[in-house]
Amino acid sequence: MASIRILVGSVFGGALLTARELKKTLEPEGHTVVVNEQPELTDITGNSDPVLICTSTTGQGEVPPNLLPFYLDLRETLPQQPGRPFGVIVLGDSSYGDTFCGAGDLLEEAFLETGAAKTGNTLKIDAMETTEPEQEALIWAREWLALL
Ligand SMILES: Cc1cc2nc3c(=O)[nH]c(=O)nc-3n(C[C@H](O)[C@H](O)[C@H](O)COP(=O)(O)O)c2cc1C
Repeated sequence: MASIRILVGSVFGGALLTARELKKTLEPEGHTVVVNEQPELTDITGNSDPVLICTSTTGQGEVPPNLLPFYLDLRETLPQQPGRPFGVIVLGDSSYGDTFCGAGDLLEEAFLETGAAKTGNTLKIDAMETTEPEQEALIWAREWLALL
């Protein structure tokens, strides 16, 4: 059983709903899941829990406003997190072309610079293909948890 921390980035609520559904389903299975809806750097510096980023993409491949302060602080201070497991669920829309799921790439790059260890492949959820991101996320998250 794992204790994980989900950092949410969401504009219209899809990624937020996805994170909340993960908590709702995974906690009765014995995991501890903290969902940070307005993430701050101290949410990760005060513990060593595996981090799951669950964010959508806005603008032109950009990080949603509620996750942006965390992202900018992370980039600026790069608190070292050697070996800390992290995974990425990113919501996007493939009709945006080159910027598809770009926010996930930005977060991944920043976390790697802290020495954190990417666990599993990024799950990219395409709004063109599904209206129920939480279903895909749950299947993926169970596999991700098994890798920790
Ligand atoms: C103004 C706007 C800009 C967007 N830009 C991108 C983008 O650059 N790349 C991408 O993959 N998706 C983009 N999207 C699609 C969203 O990421 C996608 O619809 C996602 O499911 C929204 O999740 P949320 O409800 O958590 O905000 C954009 C959507 C909007 C409305």
